[in-house]
Amino acid sequence: MPIRVSCVILAAALAASGQSLRDLAKSKGVYFGAAGAVLFLNEGDYPTVLAREFNQLEPENDTKFGPIHPAPETYAWQRADALVEFGAKHGMRMRGHTLVWHNQNPAWLTKGSFTPVQLNGILESHIAAVMRHFRGKMIGWDVVNEAFNDDGTMRSTIWYDKPGIGLQGTGYIEQAFKWARAADPDAKLFYNDYNNEAICAKSDAMYAMVKDFKARGVPIDGVGLQMHLTLKPNLDTYEANIERFEKLGMIVEITELDVRVPVDASGKADPADLVKQAEIYERVVRGCLKFSACKAIQVWGVTDKHSWIPGVFKGTGEALIFDKAYQPKPAYTAVRKAFEAAK
Ligand code: G3I
Repeated sequence: MPIRVSCVILAAALAASGQSLRDLAKSKGVYFGAAGAVLFLNEGDYPTVLAREFNQLEPENDTKFGPIHPAPETYAWQRADALVEFGAKHGMRMRGHTLVWHNQNPAWLTKGSFTPVQLNGILESHIAAVMRHFRGKMIGWDVVNEAFNDDGTMRSTIWYDKPGIGLQGTGYIEQAFKWARAADPDAKLFYNDYNNEAICAKSDAMYAMVKDFKARGVPIDGVGLQMHLTLKPNLDTYEANIERFEKLGMIVEITELDVRVPVDASGKADPADLVKQAEIYERVVRGCLKFSACKAIQVWGVTDKHSWIPGVFKGTGEALIFDKAYQPKPAYTAVRKAFEAAK
């Protein structure tokens, strides 16, 4: 019964406020996305809310290297295929995440002691296999994820310096984008990172890389601002930052938005913090929608029930726009307001 009750309450909230967020986003020519997991597609309100409120879907984990390529000659497509099928059934745009990352790589890869030449071949064939499998189904990919440290230096990763695929500086990123373009010429190719929403050392490094790539014809279409935020976000230069990437011809997408708040021992937030959280959501969405380069805003999960935040940032939680019972939070209303206000 609790499931039925919460569905009724959600339906009532929507009826009172008119269109769903995906309808509003569509009316403004943008996508409102969520990271999703096939694990939850049969769970209570999850599929209902996902299909009703979001017109973009990105696998939270199922297209990462480890989950999708668990053994050298084995690709595990089933979970991601099921998400793609769900997205297609519900008219959602699918976004792929991520082909090249330092994290969530399989043990056969990280413990393999491969030479640069071997790693080069592994990465090229991984990108080709995954992108070709989803060709025509994924609108775009986070080709490379989180390659910079916060101070703008290159992050140590298996692809870069151990000893990597054998290329200096941003060379491995460039190579990955070239392989990605060859694998699926129609997919939009993104560089994605966190702590890059403001003008800062990390976004400066990204900017320099994109400028260089554009000048030399290296294929790149967009940048992702993940935006895993707290109640004290650094948003003073957020719009100026979007603007400078727009001027480089980049699509700019908000890819992993959540705003974590302090929670008590039972995981509950102070209602006043949820109001502050809502203001931040509204500001992020309003800021992005000022730019024609901004094509999508995506939250990192459907419900607080399954968010990655409490497991990683202890003492915080309730970071998303639906609570653990799939009820819309003040942040939901704030996103709605921001869409309604957009031209
Ligand atoms: O699926 C396995 C399960 O079989 C196993 O029993 C269980 C035991 O720990 O782990 C499960 O995998 C977990 C997976 O999430 C799926 O739930 C991994 O341990 C866990 O590490 C993984 O966390 C993900 C994290 O990336 C890994 O770094 C989070 O769900 C995911 O939200 C998070 O997403 C990243 C983005 O990709 C990139 N930007 C930052 C963002 C947050 O870290």
